[in-house]
Amino acid sequence: MIADGFMDGPSLAPNVSALRPLFDMMDDGYLVCEGIASPIYANASALALVPDDSDPLQALLALLPADACGLARRHGRWGGDLNFDDGRILQVRLYFRADDGRGYSLVTFRDVSDGYVRQKELERRNSQLRQTLASLAGTQEQLLRSGKMASIGQLAAGVAHEINNPIGYVHSNLGSLQEYLHSLFQMIEVYERALRSSEPAAMLPEIEDMRQRCDFEFISVDLPQLMAESREGIERVTQIVRNLKEFSYSDREQSWRSSDLHAGLESTINIVWNELKYKVVLERRFGQLPLVQCRLSELNQVFMNMLLNASQAIEERGTIIVSTGVQGEEAWVEFEDTGSGMPEDVQQNIFDPFFTTKPVGSGTGLGLSISYGIVKNHNGRIEVRSTPGKGSCFRISLPIHQPGLREQQD
Ligand SMILES: Nc1ncnc2c1ncn2[C@@H]1O[C@H](COP(=O)(O)OP(=O)(O)OP(=O)(O)O)[C@@H](O)[C@H]1O
Ligand SMILES: [Mg+2]
Repeated sequence: MIADGFMDGPSLAPNVSALRPLFDMMDDGYLVCEGIASPIYANASALALVPDDSDPLQALLALLPADACGLARRHGRWGGDLNFDDGRILQVRLYFRADDGRGYSLVTFRDVSDGYVRQKELERRNSQLRQTLASLAGTQEQLLRSGKMASIGQLAAGVAHEINNPIGYVHSNLGSLQEYLHSLFQMIEVYERALRSSEPAAMLPEIEDMRQRCDFEFISVDLPQLMAESREGIERVTQIVRNLKEFSYSDREQSWRSSDLHAGLESTINIVWNELKYKVVLERRFGQLPLVQCRLSELNQVFMNMLLNASQAIEERGTIIVSTGVQGEEAWVEFEDTGSGMPEDVQQNIFDPFFTTKPVGSGTGLGLSISYGIVKNHNGRIEVRSTPGKGSCFRISLPIHQPGLREQQD
């Protein structure tokens, strides 16, 4: 079944039989045909593909799909893959040349199962990585929310205190007002009696006595004051509630908006004020800022972390300076404190999740890593300068315009 001399070039022809052992050493299978469908030779690797067949050359040719020969006849070549039930994959090429006469064709078989398996494995790992990435993103989102919840939890006591104070004195003022009203009604009643009496002048001593007992002079001064103070208290509560709403405004639709960073800073300062006011002098050095495309509620969380860290770094009394400005296409916000500062080895780690130098139970170590994530998501950056014993300065730079962002409308 093996035809010698299939390459009938003048110098090759006598040596073709001698070349067979060489062809048999090759890993790839070869099938040679006269014309395109009359097989005349196959090497050992090709024959190994059809071990039990009584006519192995025809069997090899039969492995090709029906249209392969027609396509090779037309285009000179055909290529494709053969998938076997046992998972093997063969890459097959069919070359055809008919210069004059019937011509010859050559079919090559290359086992690519390994590469294929490797590729499949890579694809599987890739999709696994993709899933892990998606679930990490979900976890990060959750961390972000739980970090936010934890800080809000921490602050809730402070905010409650802030609200309780004005509510307390409004309540006590209402008690005084009730007494004053009682006295005033008593006086009106005496005046009414005097008006109706035939001799009102005779009642003057009684009226005077009543004014004394009610301390009318005092009421006339104190009552407007109480009213003003109560109004102020209610306004303070309204303000705190408004700040809380602004601060925690949930970006459920993940909306980016052109926002006033100063407004964000003010509402955040109000929220954390109770934590700061006893030991910190807060100085604002606000520059001119344009509206910045951002998710303000997320940035508020960053501002809160910065303010809390600065205040926690101050042992007894100190200053926090909050400055803002614009440099090139970026807006920046800086938090400078006169606190403990950080040695170099602490500075190296502060953005790592769960890194904290605070006592167990008082810091989760998530503040800065969450802040870092938020700022990075805004295509911005956080820079730190710190001198142990002197204080620290955190600068947040944010692009004023987010590249490629179409803003959501309300
Ligand atoms: N302004 C600062 N001055 C000195 N050290 C700071 C300052 N800001 C951060 N650090 C250091 O960085 C660490 C990490 O800060 P981060 O805000 O991530 O966590 P934390 O404040 O310890 O805990 P959490 O914010 O979760 O309550 C702090 O423990 C502290 O050592
Ligand atoms: Mg912190």
